[in-house]
Amino acid sequence: MGNNILQVIYLLASVSFIAGLKFLGNPATARKGNIYAAIGMTIAIFGTIFLYKGPDGQSLKNLPFIFGGLLVGTIIGWVAAKRVQMTAMPEMVSLFNGMGGACAMLISIIEFQHITSVIVSPTDINLFLTANSGGEKTGLLLTIITGLIIGSVSFSGSMIAWGKLSGKVKDKSFPLQQYLSIGLLLVILFFAYNVVGMRSEEFQTEFYLVLALALIYGVFFVMPIGGADMPVVISLLNSFTGVAAACGGFLYDNKVMLIGGILVGSAGTLLTIVMCNAMNRSLLNVLIGNFGGGSTAAAGSSSSVQGSIKEVTKSDAAILMKYAKKVVIVPGYGLAVAQAQHVVHELETLLEAEGVEVKYAIHPVAGRMPGHMNVLLAESNVSYDKLIEMEEINPEFATTDVVLVVGANDVVNPAAKTDPASPIFGMPILEVENAANVIVNKRSMKAGYAGIENELFYRPKTSMLFGDAKKALTELVSEIKSLQ
Ligand code: TAP
Repeated sequence: MGNNILQVIYLLASVSFIAGLKFLGNPATARKGNIYAAIGMTIAIFGTIFLYKGPDGQSLKNLPFIFGGLLVGTIIGWVAAKRVQMTAMPEMVSLFNGMGGACAMLISIIEFQHITSVIVSPTDINLFLTANSGGEKTGLLLTIITGLIIGSVSFSGSMIAWGKLSGKVKDKSFPLQQYLSIGLLLVILFFAYNVVGMRSEEFQTEFYLVLALALIYGVFFVMPIGGADMPVVISLLNSFTGVAAACGGFLYDNKVMLIGGILVGSAGTLLTIVMCNAMNRSLLNVLIGNFGGGSTAAAGSSSSVQGSIKEVTKSDAAILMKYAKKVVIVPGYGLAVAQAQHVVHELETLLEAEGVEVKYAIHPVAGRMPGHMNVLLAESNVSYDKLIEMEEINPEFATTDVVLVVGANDVVNPAAKTDPASPIFGMPILEVENAANVIVNKRSMKAGYAGIENELFYRPKTSMLFGDAKKALTELVSEIKSLQ
């Protein structure tokens, strides 16, 4: 009876995950989506704790440990999420993703120990191998080793991604990196093959070798990825964690874990494909770890930009924008750093009251996480229909009087189209220079995430409006108001 109710709970939880994911697809309903999915997860967890009965009819034991773990995890998650700055959100997502990978890795280790726990002496190993020579445990071991490899790569890779996004870890390529990665992967697969088939008495040692090598592979995989290419890797690691969790679902014959894992895995894979398209990269390049230029390439192409820049005063910028017919605002990472989303919305409202048509141009990898700009602008109630995706807005720049770039850099860098040596070469960009005037707001001439200079700042149509985005836009708003 208890198990039947539990199956109904799992069904409800699965439906809530799917509905949650659907609502997450739109900034207006994203908050609701998050709550739906969280409710689903809560009922799945408590349903399992109180209603699950094992094959022997026993309920879960060790309840104090389970509740202790839940309490500690809830407190850490709650405090971390409450305290995190919006700009540090991508790091937190990476860290949490790594924890998911670590869980899958630990499940595999525990279950491996579980099924081999009968082995206590060399004689036992022989007995164990002979008893299982018919392949009885092969399916189980295949699931365990798959979860182990993917979970470990996801864990160590996400930790490196976290370090890189927070600036603690620098890009680093190794000599013969690409070949080493492929070689390492082949060695991992060789040992994994031995473990699954229990081909030798050493299969237990080989299991832990797979664990160690997979952790090293995760570091190798993410370490050299640099420039503007991190978004693809982050979404790929996300999908890895989902697949690793789905392996846990297979292992425990737990439908809700399986469905949850598959949803994360497939959503992550779709996001990876979208990100690859946005960056104009192939997935194969990502998988063999030869991806992006890293800081060396970035430094290499940065010296080529020469020329002088021109500055615009706030009053001149105000006049230009107030008397424009059409203004397009390009938000970037700096908008998030400055927390200027509210004042940018105020600027938009003010200009519209003056009869100016205002739109926002959204680059798929602007900021530091997928949908960063959408989330940021939704926070200040910018109407969703004003956020125009790159492919749609690019043809509109030719009929735009003023483009205001706020804290964006790489996503408007023409080197992506003109400089084959640039680490971002080939990435589609927002073609702002087709507009009549470009005003760029940032604090200095410093590079963006890819670490390269931007020729746009030196072009004749461009004027720089230096300063922190929140302060500069607040003053711009005052200037426009004073023109009335
Ligand atoms: P970036 O190229 O990183 O440029 C941001 C610019 O904002 C900087 O040049 C900085 O110049 C300026 N800035 C920083 N703080 C500011 C402030 N308080 N006020 C005004 N300006 C400020 O940003 P982007 O154009 O949005 O491009 C995103 C980059 O991140 C891409 O390379 C992308 O591949 C990468 N990335 C994206 C993701 C995802 S999924 N979106 C994930 C990881 C990495 P100053 O210092 O001179 O002010």
